[in-house]
Amino acid sequence: LAPKDLQGLRLLVSAGPTREYLDPVRFLSNPSSGRMGYALAEAARDRGAEVVLVSGPTALPDPWGVEVVRVESALEMRKAILERYPWAEAVAMAAAVADYRPAEVLADKEPKAVAEKVLRLVPNPDILKELGERKDGKVLVGFAMETAEGLERARGKLLRKNLDLIALNWVNREGVGFGSPENEVVLLLRDGRVVELPRMPKRQVAERILDLVREFWRS
Ligand code: PMT
Repeated sequence: LAPKDLQGLRLLVSAGPTREYLDPVRFLSNPSSGRMGYALAEAARDRGAEVVLVSGPTALPDPWGVEVVRVESALEMRKAILERYPWAEAVAMAAAVADYRPAEVLADKEPKAVAEKVLRLVPNPDILKELGERKDGKVLVGFAMETAEGLERARGKLLRKNLDLIALNWVNREGVGFGSPENEVVLLLRDGRVVELPRMPKRQVAERILDLVREFWRS
């Protein structure tokens, strides 16, 4: 039986991809399966936390004992997270939020194109950065998905977004990251600690992250 060492913690978790629609049947997205975020939500629930999971579209069933809020776009995810932010004591953003959305969303399905088409994109708001700007004593956990210069970029995100912890994972490593049951992460902490974890199931990665959330929450 898991120790109830997170009893009383109110944790907000995000998971999965976002969908940025061009028209009613076409969207831009990414391969996030939601597994990392759901593992965090389930592990925290088993350790006694109250958990709200804001999830982009995934094939995973709603975890029992967790309030699940289903969203599609980055703007919907932002709204759902900001609404619940005052309630939360800790937030873990495992979602792969699209950085851009189409400038225009067509109300009707566009007929098949014959000519070349240029798509104009506008940046989405950075949800985690907004949370960091109103930190208010909350524990903030981010993920960083990188292909190169991972440590420097992840450290930059940790500082820029005012986080307590960021979990760095890689996009192009076989068997980890997007979609897979396992992950291999380096945890960079606000106090300068760097914890390199071997490849392990996402549930175990989640447990290690929650050990640190507990430490920050209690301090
Ligand atoms: O879902 P799985 O298949 O299990 O895969 C898990 C994962 C690889 C998606 C997950 O471990 C992961 O790395 N999630 C974050 C991916 C990502 O968007 O990284 P980023 O480096 O672009 O963003 C940094 C942080 O800012 C993330 O915590 C992200 O949630 C957040 N962010 C990013 C963009 C944005 N507009 N708003 C945000 O809040």
